[in-house]
Amino acid sequence: MAFNKEQFANLIGEFTVSTEQLREIAADFRYDLRLGLKDPEQSSLRMLKSYVGLPTGKETGEYLALDFGGTNLRVLRIKLLGEGKFEVLKKVAKPLKVEGVYDFIGADSTAEEMFDFIAELVDEAVEGDHTTKYLLGHTFSFPSEQTDLYNAKLIIWTKEFATPGVEGKVVNDLLKEALHRQGIDNVEPTAVINDTVAVLLAAAYKQPDIYIGSIYATGHNTCYLEPYADSADAPMILNLESGGFMKLVPSRLDIEFDKASEKPGEQRLEKMVSGRYMGELFGMALAELLDEKGKNYGFTSIDMSNIILDETADKAEVVKIVADKTGKTIETADAEMVRDLASALVVRSARLVTASFVGIIWQLAGEGKAPKQHIAVDGSVYEKMPLAKENIMRALSELLGEEASVVDTVLENGGSGLGAAIAAAMSQK
Ligand code: BGC
Repeated sequence: MAFNKEQFANLIGEFTVSTEQLREIAADFRYDLRLGLKDPEQSSLRMLKSYVGLPTGKETGEYLALDFGGTNLRVLRIKLLGEGKFEVLKKVAKPLKVEGVYDFIGADSTAEEMFDFIAELVDEAVEGDHTTKYLLGHTFSFPSEQTDLYNAKLIIWTKEFATPGVEGKVVNDLLKEALHRQGIDNVEPTAVINDTVAVLLAAAYKQPDIYIGSIYATGHNTCYLEPYADSADAPMILNLESGGFMKLVPSRLDIEFDKASEKPGEQRLEKMVSGRYMGELFGMALAELLDEKGKNYGFTSIDMSNIILDETADKAEVVKIVADKTGKTIETADAEMVRDLASALVVRSARLVTASFVGIIWQLAGEGKAPKQHIAVDGSVYEKMPLAKENIMRALSELLGEEASVVDTVLENGGSGLGAAIAAAMSQK
């Protein structure tokens, strides 16, 4: 069976965002940002206060960093040496879910089980030492309402997490209780930050001209340093929860996909751009081409990456991946289309992410010119997905014109851990 060319062209059309549309999305993003600064209720951006500004670069000492944001949980013992330098003394990591073995993120788990598992990992990181005092910085990568650097209440799970008993709770209280249950009272959680904030802190610890931090991975979100966040105080980083941005042009399939997701109506931008969702969206589109609408083949963004990387004439890798996942053997000509489909989704993703960056850059510029800056980004999609970076750069210059010359993106690899340690150091002031 060969694909229907018209159907294919229509699908690509549905996933294409023109320059004009992109400009409109960036302008709407800026609009929501300004609205959110006055009254977050009115905006599709949550604009969550982080109660932290930029580090001075002079932060030093040994801290624990908990990185809790996706299925892979990490705890690090980090020594900050100042001026961008640091040493990772110990690193332990464990997934929160192992298929068929245990699952702390599903609807059948409990908050207590989840945090006990986390406390055990902390215990591994301190190697059973229950006397040395440690401050712990916690990168918690879910939308949380903060009243200070310690106190962060989970508003709502994202990334299809479903553990009951955590939404509405102060996550560091849950962590503290779990640490206490295991006799780890020498570890004191003092700061909670979002992973975007962690990336911004980590990057700013190392170099100047950083105001925007973003995660482009399983999930997607961006934060920035807002000079007037809390009228009386110094500039503060705001976690936009930009994955929840709504003023988009979702395709028919985005709408169907959202309806079937864990939290319909939420995280609309994230569902169009992030690694957690892109593979499934791609699978939905492919199912239409294969005349099996509604089938879920379980494609991941890693499959998409491998498909795009196949530049060979016979597209053997594409054919193989499609056969593995769908059980269908496709012709080379169709494999080309499969690759184009994957590319279209990645290009769209990178363009939409960039539109949100530009919305912030316009906000930072005010009536003037865009400030010289490096946008700090961490995450597997940004780092590894073919076409992502180049399409960010392309869209930046499409929207910013000449001003794009003062803006670039930098990879802040592992910023979640380093940022948490920096936040713990900053919590002592
Ligand atoms: C969460 C954000 C987080 C992002 C990246 C989103 O699902 O809502 O808080 O920053 O994922 O991890």
